[in-house]
Amino acid sequence: MPSPAKKPAAKRDAKAAAPKSKAVGKEVRPGSADAPVRSGSTPQVPRGMKDILPQEQRYWRHIYKKIESLARGYGYERIDTPILEETSLFVRAAGKQSDIVEKEMFSFIDKGGDNVSLRPEGTAPVARAYINHGMLAMPQPVKLYYVGPMFRYERPQHGRYRQHHQFGFEVFGDSNPVIDAELIMLAHQFYKDLGIKTTVHINSLGCPNCRPNFTAEIVAYFRSKRSQLCEDCKRRMTKNPLRVLDCKVPGCVALKEAAPHIVDHLDDDCKNKLMRVLEFLDDLQVPYVLDPHLVRGFDYYTRTVFEVVLSDEQVIPAPLPVPAAPAHGHRGHQAVPEAQPVQEVPQPMPAVALGGGGRYDNLIEQMGGRPTPACGFGIGLERAILQMKALQIDPPDDNRTEVFLAQLGDQARRKVFALFDELRAADVRVAANLSKNALKGQLEAANKMGAKLTAIIGQKEVLDGTVLLRDMESGMQEIVDYNKAVLEITKKLGRE
Ligand code: HAM
Repeated sequence: MPSPAKKPAAKRDAKAAAPKSKAVGKEVRPGSADAPVRSGSTPQVPRGMKDILPQEQRYWRHIYKKIESLARGYGYERIDTPILEETSLFVRAAGKQSDIVEKEMFSFIDKGGDNVSLRPEGTAPVARAYINHGMLAMPQPVKLYYVGPMFRYERPQHGRYRQHHQFGFEVFGDSNPVIDAELIMLAHQFYKDLGIKTTVHINSLGCPNCRPNFTAEIVAYFRSKRSQLCEDCKRRMTKNPLRVLDCKVPGCVALKEAAPHIVDHLDDDCKNKLMRVLEFLDDLQVPYVLDPHLVRGFDYYTRTVFEVVLSDEQVIPAPLPVPAAPAHGHRGHQAVPEAQPVQEVPQPMPAVALGGGGRYDNLIEQMGGRPTPACGFGIGLERAILQMKALQIDPPDDNRTEVFLAQLGDQARRKVFALFDELRAADVRVAANLSKNALKGQLEAANKMGAKLTAIIGQKEVLDGTVLLRDMESGMQEIVDYNKAVLEITKKLGRE
């Protein structure tokens, strides 16, 4: 689906350029505001997308920290690419017949008549950036990482959203199998750092030299079973036969069991490279299983492909009791109040990929760059968080208020402002409610925020040049000199 040729804006025929994907849905004039509105109803979050509320943020902060620490530790530089790209980028990279391109892209024609898509994944945009910015001229390998939202028009279900967040690590310019192993180790290590045990499923999809051989084997095997395949797979058999191995329809999954193993049909070079990756994984003590039917949803992969799944040994705690919905309305009826968000019950996802990736040695060349080997992986942050919750792994609450500043009167408020700034400069997490006058309400707020200390300045303290420090747990109070307040507070917080 290439972008339409440039024409004067007024003459561009947006309709002709509209992608054929069903995901585009009912046509609305490009750039118009005439979307249907349900009168009187409150706007809702789009289906399959979620708000990330303040109480969730500590999970996200925790995960971002782990990603950054891995990236820094292993020398990966951050790259950010636009959320919107030309549709043709994903068609070329993922493949015209991939589910992503055929069914799952949010594509539309922009006001200038260009065919664009919300990115469904990060590898193609980063590969584009590598070519666009001449990174081939930099010392190789170039190691990059990214974090951000991805969009796929999928059927929403537990752990599958239409907007998810993904981080990815990509290495360009090195074909050595040790790179594959490093990336697999990093994906595994990310979960280990979170306290989650995972196993890696690994396979090789060979290269253009040997792929036709095993594709023929797969076609021969499924041909006699064609009538038992689902409709999608019947189509895949002619257009993209390896994708039959990735079908999740139970009938096709059962047929796959006795299908030929790709690894048995690799050429010597691909076989050796796979063996090298496995040896490195043994050295790195990364648990893996060879999964001879593993294929992935993008056409760009060559040789190594892998997925990270929850390990069988991961001890799964008993599920937390889900609070019963309060009774409302008529007798015998239990109803959730309207404003209550529907809670997703955390449950482990043993069969779901927590991450995946592989080598894509031909993608840069296919996209018009010089031949450049590459390898990478992506991990879904929502899935990592669901897994943390299911396993009752609690991230540190590092944003919790340490000191609440309470005040009584205008003069005290001025002093609190100054103290606020000094404490902030000393890296203390401070909060106040400057519009409140009653001490009781302010202490309640401090309690709710979980503050360790409350510093109180009333009229007496203003006159004396002091601050009353209250330990919120013990209730003990102490008068300290206003000028030494920051020192005393940091001491009490154990920050010396
Ligand atoms: P992917 O397997 O499609 O690979 O996605 C990577 C990870 O993103 C998945 O394993 C899963 O954790 C998460 N994920 C994908 N789709 C969803 C969804 N709808 N809802 C929630 N989480 C989701 C890629 O995207 C490749 N670009 C990875 C890669 C990087 N290969 C080489 N380099």
